[in-house]
Amino acid sequence: MMKTTIPSSIHIHVAIMLFSLLGGLSSAQLSTNFYSKSCPSALSIIKSGVISAIKAETRMGASLLRLHFHDCFVNGCDGSILLDDTSTFTGEQTSLANNNSIRGLNVIDNIKAQLENSCPGVVSCADIVAVAARDSTVVLGGPSWNVLLGRRDSTTASISAANNNLPGPNFNLSALLSSFSKHGFSARELVALSGGHTIGKARCTTFRSRIYNDTNIDPSFASSLQGICPRSGGDNNLTPMDPTPTKFDNCYFRDLLKKKGLFHSDQELYNGGSTDSIVKTYTFNPSIFSKDFADAMLKMSNLGPLTGSSGQIRKNCGKVN
Ligand code: HEM
Ligand SMILES: *[C@@H]1O[C@H](CO)[C@@H](O)[C@H](O)[C@H]1NC(C)=O
Ligand SMILES: *[C@@H]1O[C@H](CO)[C@@H](O)[C@H](O)[C@H]1NC(C)=O
Ligand SMILES: *[C@@H]1O[C@H](CO)[C@@H](O)[C@H](O)[C@H]1NC(C)=O
Repeated sequence: MMKTTIPSSIHIHVAIMLFSLLGGLSSAQLSTNFYSKSCPSALSIIKSGVISAIKAETRMGASLLRLHFHDCFVNGCDGSILLDDTSTFTGEQTSLANNNSIRGLNVIDNIKAQLENSCPGVVSCADIVAVAARDSTVVLGGPSWNVLLGRRDSTTASISAANNNLPGPNFNLSALLSSFSKHGFSARELVALSGGHTIGKARCTTFRSRIYNDTNIDPSFASSLQGICPRSGGDNNLTPMDPTPTKFDNCYFRDLLKKKGLFHSDQELYNGGSTDSIVKTYTFNPSIFSKDFADAMLKMSNLGPLTGSSGQIRKNCGKVN
């Protein structure tokens, strides 16, 4: 009887509200202790794999952090970036931002092989990537966060979603803000997450137009980079992302104040616009940056996970079971 007195439009509204509430809470199905019974050594296996990979090549820590970002911004943190192309399938690895650029796939594969030895078919590739990003950050001196676990792996990947969702180094501030707000991130979170550029290296092709054509760049910084990045050729020549590329610190932000951001997109965060004050906060208060970075990474790692019976636990991260 009550029911008939409620207009059907209210029913629809309630249904929509419940639906979006559930969508927003989908990470509630993830938990820090997801593997505590099924694979108690999961976290220590991942951590030792990350430590030995970074010991072999320090840059790998940066590459693993970036891998997680590029997984999560493309249809959620579902391991889709790990799927290799085949003769009948094109995945995300050759997308604009990933081609000749993403690294660390072998490290994830090696860790996965060890996990399959200890607890076959249990730990997802998406979770390995999420934990490896956190462990890498910690090993290089950055903050920690408690990764929620229980993501499952996608059975597909999308090159067009990768092309449409991963920001490029020539983006201006409004394009960066809109790219991040599409995934629910504020301006402050955009700036905090961009602080990931405190570690790692970049190829000439990603900063060439900045060092030859931008005006908001320190001239001596530009000319020193021109030495390793010619107007043509040398596309894959590398330069550090900031002066301390193996230390997770706040040098990246200090450099922005000096017009020494490596990418056009980096310098856009401090170029007389609305995010200048956040860059200053992170420059003068490294502990605020650390806290904001960890919080934003946790939020990013919870983007659109597959849970329950969605997706699968891949046996081999590079291909669908
Ligand atoms: C804000 C928009 C962003 C843009 C436009 C951008 C763009 C880029 C580009 C062009 C490179 C160099 C790739 C190459 O040389 O092949 C790079 C490297 C890197 N990015 Fe970003 N990125 C962004 C945000 C992020 C975020 C949110 C993170 C992590 C939290 C991140 C972490 C890294 C790391 C660690 C590297 C170095 C990777 C390595 O040495 O292998 N980036 N980024
Ligand atoms: C990826 O890079 C390779 C090697 O430089 C190139 O041959 C190929 O065309 C690129 N793929 C795409 C989709 O851009
Ligand atoms: C920023 O870039 C977008 C996309 O390229 C462009 O449409 C827009 O006009 C640019 N905005 C500013 C303020 O330069
Ligand atoms: C710099 O800008 C000019 C004019 O738009 C363009 O022709 C040239 O290719 C650019 N150079 C680089 C290295 O991006």
